[in-house]
Amino acid sequence: MTVPIGIHDIALATGHYAMDLAELARHNGVDVNKYYIGLGQTSQTVTATDEDIVTMAATAARQIVARHGVDGIRTVLFATETGIDQSKSAAVYVQDLIGLPAATRSVELKQACYGGASALQLAAGIVARDPEQRVLVIASDIATYDLDSGGEATQGAAAVAMLVSADPEIAVLDETVGLYTANVQDFWRPNYRSTPLVDGKLSIGAYLEAVEQAWKDYEARGGSGVGDFAGFCYHQPFTKMAHKAHTRLLELKGIEATAARLHADLAPTTIYNRAIGNSYTASLFVGFVSLLDHSDDLAGRSVAMFSYGSGCVAELFSVTPVSGYREHLRTAGNRASIADREPISYERYRALRDFALPQDGTDLALAVASRGPFRLSSVSGHSRIYGAAHTR
Ligand code: COA
Repeated sequence: MTVPIGIHDIALATGHYAMDLAELARHNGVDVNKYYIGLGQTSQTVTATDEDIVTMAATAARQIVARHGVDGIRTVLFATETGIDQSKSAAVYVQDLIGLPAATRSVELKQACYGGASALQLAAGIVARDPEQRVLVIASDIATYDLDSGGEATQGAAAVAMLVSADPEIAVLDETVGLYTANVQDFWRPNYRSTPLVDGKLSIGAYLEAVEQAWKDYEARGGSGVGDFAGFCYHQPFTKMAHKAHTRLLELKGIEATAARLHADLAPTTIYNRAIGNSYTASLFVGFVSLLDHSDDLAGRSVAMFSYGSGCVAELFSVTPVSGYREHLRTAGNRASIADREPISYERYRALRDFALPQDGTDLALAVASRGPFRLSSVSGHSRIYGAAHTR
């Protein structure tokens, strides 16, 4: 008998500020319902000057280490498309900040928003080879687009950390997957740019094509039917994208995508993403945490997961929550991390966007701005220096 492998623990973190999209609508002179209803987004997380993907990742991961310790963790897989270095992986900083043993394999993975799902599957492979090991998977991103571009309404930031192990306490990762890769230039970020180049409409079309093709591969490999799932988590660059994707899937299967059907299949997965905004690699897993935190008992009922990373790579897989998983959720803390963000005006957001770390090697000490357990305290000798809250 093969040992079940999956998500043993899952924890969420987001940034310090929140901008209501009414603020952006005011600046852009558009009806706020374009964002609230048309995109399905109410606000977006904006990070403080002393936050980045490492501080959010460490904030999520420390919750897991506090609960489960570090025994058996020999690998950290850090998925991001907001990399802070072209060579050194962000996983190394997290390994240090949360006190993992030196005998750890720490690496970074990249394929746009798909990186987190790939890390989860690679982690399962490591655990299948040695079920005594546990793998820390982290997806952490800050989604930023050009100022005054259409993409600005779909920004956000979050990290999700997951402990992958045998006999998981949250959800088993089911074995059948559907895959799809196509060379599409819908969204990419050349090394010389801090914001991506994006063809928004092309990316929506490429995403929908990927849903169809990944599903067909999943079906061909003996996957479950649409009616077998208790919920559907999609990568959510904006939550309305999940509606578009699910409509495409239902129509492919000859099922009418009524408003009631879409609401029943998707609503609990979109609550956190509506407020946080896009978090690239983390977005799918933010959706999963939202589903777990806002559903009746899902034990034994599989949940479809669709990951899309522009460029593009997509994967359709499923997870099955296990009996008793609800005792291990962090619902109150998750809700608080979103509700407690400091609201900011468009003008404040714009000032934060104008801030940039030195690009020329100049040293800079950063004032305390955020209140999380970790912060970026300075840039010195071309290096980012992080500190725990007690060292402030
Ligand atoms: N009330 C309600 N809905 C409204 C509205 C209003 N007053 N005004 C506009 N809308 C709707 C539009 O009909 C549209 O909905 P639809 O797509 O279901 O037809 C939606 O709001 C967005 O409007 P649109 O004009 O398409 O927005 P945009 O041109 O500013 O661009 C994106 C939207 C998503 C393309 C843009 O934000 C973007 O490029 N984002 C980054 C890339 C991305 O997220 N891609 C997704 C796949 S990875």
